[in-house]
Amino acid sequence: MKLRSSDWFGREGKDGFIYRAWMKNQGIPDDEFRDKPVIGICNTWSELTPCNAHFRELAESVKKGVWESGGFPLEFPVMSLGETIVKPTAMLFRNLMSMTVEESIRANPLDGVVLLVGCDKTTPASVMGACSVDIPTIAVSGGPMLTGKFKGRDMATSDIWRMSEASRSGELDQETFRNAEAAMCRSQGHCAVMGTASTMGCMVESLGLTLPENAAIPAADSRRKVLAQLSGRRIVDMVKEDLKPSEILTREAFENAVIANAAIGGSTNFLIHLMAIAGRVGINLTLDDFDRLGSKIPLLANLQPSGKYFMEDFYYAGGLPAVMKELLPHLHKSVVSVNGKTVEENCSSAESFDEEIIAKLDKPFQENSGIAVVYGNLCENGAIIKPSAASEELMKHRGQAIVFETIEEFHERINDPELEADETNILVLKNVGPKGYPGMPEVGNMGLPPKLLKKGVKDMVRISDGRMSGTAFGTTFLHVSPESAIGGNLAFVQDGDWIEVDVENRRLHLDVPPDELEKRKRNWKPIDLGYDRGYVKMFIDHVEQADKGMDLDYLKGSSGSEVSRDSH
Ligand code: FES
Repeated sequence: MKLRSSDWFGREGKDGFIYRAWMKNQGIPDDEFRDKPVIGICNTWSELTPCNAHFRELAESVKKGVWESGGFPLEFPVMSLGETIVKPTAMLFRNLMSMTVEESIRANPLDGVVLLVGCDKTTPASVMGACSVDIPTIAVSGGPMLTGKFKGRDMATSDIWRMSEASRSGELDQETFRNAEAAMCRSQGHCAVMGTASTMGCMVESLGLTLPENAAIPAADSRRKVLAQLSGRRIVDMVKEDLKPSEILTREAFENAVIANAAIGGSTNFLIHLMAIAGRVGINLTLDDFDRLGSKIPLLANLQPSGKYFMEDFYYAGGLPAVMKELLPHLHKSVVSVNGKTVEENCSSAESFDEEIIAKLDKPFQENSGIAVVYGNLCENGAIIKPSAASEELMKHRGQAIVFETIEEFHERINDPELEADETNILVLKNVGPKGYPGMPEVGNMGLPPKLLKKGVKDMVRISDGRMSGTAFGTTFLHVSPESAIGGNLAFVQDGDWIEVDVENRRLHLDVPPDELEKRKRNWKPIDLGYDRGYVKMFIDHVEQADKGMDLDYLKGSSGSEVSRDSH
């Protein structure tokens, strides 16, 4: 087969001289340029993305594998997004990052690519970009951190929310809170619970874009490097087989990922990212697909934030292959993955080594897991809730709204002892959607009023057009669409309005007469965010709503790998 890279390195004359000569300043022998598959290692390493800070070492393992299989590895950087660092929210830049991945792959002499991914957005952004080029691609996740250890107990990211509420209620002193920081993040890797990063690791594995076991091997475990090396070997063969993402990412593969996500109690962010990836390969995945396919799937993984254990435990208990094996009756078994094997073949020898952590299908931790999609006049295009992370008694509830127009107003008022609130109230937060913030931050699990925390209240119904960290929990209705900033009915909720939630009947209803709602609509003015230039302006002008995956409208689909014009 003719290698794509030969259009650069295989040329004669001046052009070939230029393409090769400058590469040789890195000390590369001439034979590396002769008919070898060139494998790009798309590295999201950055010291500003702490979860990916070990990726240069991981890239070396990939390179070893590429060389062993007769390929020529070339590592390159792309934009990276550190979830905990980037302001105002990493989600604002997911699509921008995907563009850096897409254009970097297409513009360079690559025959195949290994995506090194880890912290939340780095996985979907890399996959979205690579899908829009569609050359052979394999993903390697960086792996979760080791379980945190603090004062004799295990901990990880979900404890931030518990400790934060305990410190706000006065139960936890500031020094202890601070000492927990290093105890929680005690090794390289991403968040150690089934938060968004681990969910994304499982997503790429269940889609068939990684070798089996990718999601759960801890970053600090030497087997993570082995997986990276084997992935390096495999991508060279994928180039020879011309096995591209478009052949792996079929509708059935997406459906398998939805089912797997339900069984592991994965993050609500999964919906937005999977829909965006589907959009790049021309598959119309809708919110209803998630509810239809996922909501009847039992919860098989006992992992925080829905359950008790950590990603490290998950790996030792059998990891995602053990879950997939249990799920086989629900899955499309013959979908092919990057190693050329089917889903069924990949998990046939897997088993659960601890049924406290990975349950059998007939003895699940919870009957119906997955994400529920609700509709009503408050969210005409849908909103979502993660039942496994919510309180059973609040799944059907009627309460009066306490409304916050912005997240800043929420921060100002929520700690006020004069705030009139009891546990039956519903906290409503506006203007945190895709366009309204902009970037849809993870603020949907609003902290509770301290005076209720002191009374022992642990959960309240919360509704917003924002997202929630995959590590968080609570009875939170998220991703309300259309968002308030573009005049969705969420914009017109006022303090004291009655709201009815009924998850079983998939209903989220604002109990305000239609004529009153109409009147409020006529008097409504959108808030002016003051963005009039640069990427953020482009984002606001083109970002789609949460129920569509929040990609930029013009990024949907693929431009392929062809580059029609030369550089000299
Ligand atoms: Fe990077 Fe949680 S902050 S994975």
